[in-house]
Amino acid sequence: MAKKSPARPRSTARARRVVSVLTAGVLAAAGVVSLAGTAEAAGALGDAAAAKGRYFGTAVAANHLGEAQYASTLDAQFGSVTPENEMKWDAVEGSRNSFTFTAADQIVSHAQSKGMKVRGHTLVWHSQLPGWVGGLGATDLRAAMNNHITQVMTHYKGKIHSWDVVNEAFQDGGNGARRSSPFQDKLGDGFIEEAFRTARTVDPAAKLCYNDYNTDGQNAKSNAVYAMVKDFKQRGVPIDCVGFQSHFNSNSPVPSDYRANLQRFADLGLDVQITELDIEGSGAAQAANYTSVVNACLGVTRCTGLTVWGVTDKYSWRSGGTPLLFDGNYNKKPAYDAVLAALGGSTGGGDGGGDGGGDNGGGGTGSCSATYTQTATWQGGYNGEVTVKAGASGITTWSVPVTMPSSQQVSALWNGAPTWNAGNTVMTVKPTYNGTLSAGASTSFGFTVMTNGNTAAPVVGACTAS
Ligand code: G3I
Repeated sequence: MAKKSPARPRSTARARRVVSVLTAGVLAAAGVVSLAGTAEAAGALGDAAAAKGRYFGTAVAANHLGEAQYASTLDAQFGSVTPENEMKWDAVEGSRNSFTFTAADQIVSHAQSKGMKVRGHTLVWHSQLPGWVGGLGATDLRAAMNNHITQVMTHYKGKIHSWDVVNEAFQDGGNGARRSSPFQDKLGDGFIEEAFRTARTVDPAAKLCYNDYNTDGQNAKSNAVYAMVKDFKQRGVPIDCVGFQSHFNSNSPVPSDYRANLQRFADLGLDVQITELDIEGSGAAQAANYTSVVNACLGVTRCTGLTVWGVTDKYSWRSGGTPLLFDGNYNKKPAYDAVLAALGGSTGGGDGGGDGGGDNGGGGTGSCSATYTQTATWQGGYNGEVTVKAGASGITTWSVPVTMPSSQQVSALWNGAPTWNAGNTVMTVKPTYNGTLSAGASTSFGFTVMTNGNTAAPVVGACTAS
């Protein structure tokens, strides 16, 4: 974990072995994966993520597709969709063995027509489960579960890149126990394994995921999921991925060991995916949190993609917390710019870039861009420099989040003042004397880092200005 240290002005004149490493190159060096059987990604966020070998998606509700701005924002930005409710058991099999796919089909057709991929959510879950399922005896329930998986996966065979086969089967709290549900209570622990085995026989090309929340950092619940996945891998139970929902707010912040937790699952030999990301908040703080999540995924080679849990704050399940990338009027929020920048896309040096309105500055009075260059390296350390450039209008202040690779320590920082996040992984740098920039003008801040064995480059998020 990066540690904060007091900033003091410093003009280090280390050996001028200038290694010019732009952010895109840095991120590429972090390691990328190729996506199996993908369609073309679509949209600004989707394209930027695809350039990193990842998908970037959103949850979608069928009943909003008819709203022009909803659809145009979806189409302009995202490369993957997850039906928010339309593939759940109550939506597709409200009565036993009578399947209704109308709403889910609408989403899948829309996605396919725009070249987007589709995540399947979800086959076996205790919630949004019609009453008749809970009324079945064990033998009948087993048959109904396997029939449900078979019918739904067959209907969408070849159209879904990843399925949440089992969702939220573990309890919160200290002991990592399984959650009570008709499946758990009547079929025992083995229902999860059985669901995955059935799923593999139906659509062998789909990635089969276990998906849960409050498993984003290392804790009793994630340890229990980890133990299950490890056991599955050892015994050859077909599982390809673990989904980390990543619903964050002040009570459940982005954990400081988020990336490490993703990595330990990946090290079991399967993919990890950020499946339902939303982070309550606003402005630069929210943007910095989004940056750290995206960087965590980019820092784990087998993190194959991210999905945010909705297009616009106004339709979020947590709308009061404004947790998404677009506000209720479909304006891009600072969090949007942060995500795009972290993915290596450009927010532009002029109007904030992209399309669809909004900007990346507080109060909408200006914009800026931030570009990272490594200016010197030596055994055990390096100097980095971030150039901050004002866009088409002058600005009076700016803010740039910089995520430090694990283990590294910032030993000095000049021409800027850092504020660190709780996990000491992201420093948000603001100007000291150099906040005012006329249109197109630039300044820079710099820092010295002790690598402590990790030579990865820091990742610079979106510049916000006012
Ligand atoms: O569509 C009906 C509408 O006709 C009715 O008037 C209204 C009255 O309450 O309900 C509407 O359905 C709601 C549905 O969302 C669509 O908005 C349901 O009541 C409501 O329960 C449902 O909530 C969903 C929730 O899952 C249910 O557990 C959220 O949209 C959805 O975002 C949320 O998603 C879950 C993931 O599947 C699993 N992980 C957690 C995540 C957040 O809770």
